[in-house]
Amino acid sequence: MVKKTLGNNNELEVSTLCHGTDHFGSRVDYETSTAILDRYVAAGENFLDTSNFYAAWIEGFKGGESETLIGKWIKERKNRDQLIIATKVGVPYQDVPMGAKAKIIEMEAEKSLKRLGIDTIDMYYTHLDDRSTPFEEQLEAMDKLVKAGKVRCIGACNILAWRLEEARNVSLSNGFPLHSCVEQRYTYLRPKVNANFGGQVSTNSDLLDYCRSRNLQLIAYSPLLHGAYMRNDRPLPPQYQHADSDVRMEALKAVAEELNATLNQIVIAWLMHQNIIPIIGASRVEQIEQNLGCLDINLTEAQMKTLNRAGI
Ligand SMILES: NC(=O)c1ccc[n+]([C@@H]2O[C@H](COP(=O)([O-])OP(=O)(O)OC[C@H]3O[C@@H](n4cnc5c(N)ncnc54)[C@H](OP(=O)(O)O)[C@@H]3O)[C@@H](O)[C@H]2O)c1
Repeated sequence: MVKKTLGNNNELEVSTLCHGTDHFGSRVDYETSTAILDRYVAAGENFLDTSNFYAAWIEGFKGGESETLIGKWIKERKNRDQLIIATKVGVPYQDVPMGAKAKIIEMEAEKSLKRLGIDTIDMYYTHLDDRSTPFEEQLEAMDKLVKAGKVRCIGACNILAWRLEEARNVSLSNGFPLHSCVEQRYTYLRPKVNANFGGQVSTNSDLLDYCRSRNLQLIAYSPLLHGAYMRNDRPLPPQYQHADSDVRMEALKAVAEELNATLNQIVIAWLMHQNIIPIIGASRVEQIEQNLGCLDINLTEAQMKTLNRAGI
């Protein structure tokens, strides 16, 4: 396994591939979820992504199921020390309102710790950019959790570069922790200009540039567009249905053929080649098996050029 520290933060050593768990314990049952987790760690990987509210949007579930499943699995496998666990706060579920007010951060961190059965959350993200709560309040709450040993590092999701810079300035002025990473939607295909993803924010060139200049680690979610690169039953999301995608798909296919790899593997390898950590998601063991094949792919500079130059 290749391990790296997270951007400006030397404390956390994570693998270069993260695994998402949003459907674990809800749509994906315990047996399959744990088989996927076992396969992931057997490959030497260590970075798990969850959230307090996963998967409240699925009928019959109320949120917290993913964290609870991970907690049970860790207890059974006794593998806490081998893992880096990221979770989040800020999306409404049950009786918890939307946002990152200090009280919510404080109470939700306790609930996440309990469900996960751990003493410290390695990476704690705000899940959305709550513009109604000043960064002073949000970051002070995070600072208290770090000082209490309940959180090691902090990050932000679904946020624009200029807002990250505002948060950075607040942290520097007050001695609060700095964000070590930003988790954003990102894949090889480019969305249409002004595409709307609801509360989710897609990575743009401004954020990429900002991450480089501030040494922030970018973590990419939904890299496989829910399987749409390869599955006939998964049409491309409408935000990606335009001529640019047709051209980029051709480039992707050409590189995949050259390397005898799948389109999914090339998308993940393309992200990793740029020092981005993709969050892979799987709901079946065969899927993770195939996706882990990306670890054997080394894209050449010529292949990166082919992929990067494609488009209109
Ligand atoms: N911070 C945020 O706001 C945010 C937002 C979204 C996600 N996330 C995180 O990112 C993780 C991944 O997100 P995502 O699920 O949207 O990622 P994704 O890469 O777009 O989609 C993963 C899904 O693609 C399908 N898939 C994966 N590998 C496949 C394969 N080899 N063959 C065929 N189909 C395959 C599966 O769909 P089926 O299960 O339907 O078969 C799988 O569940 C989540 O679990 C969560 O931890 C974070």
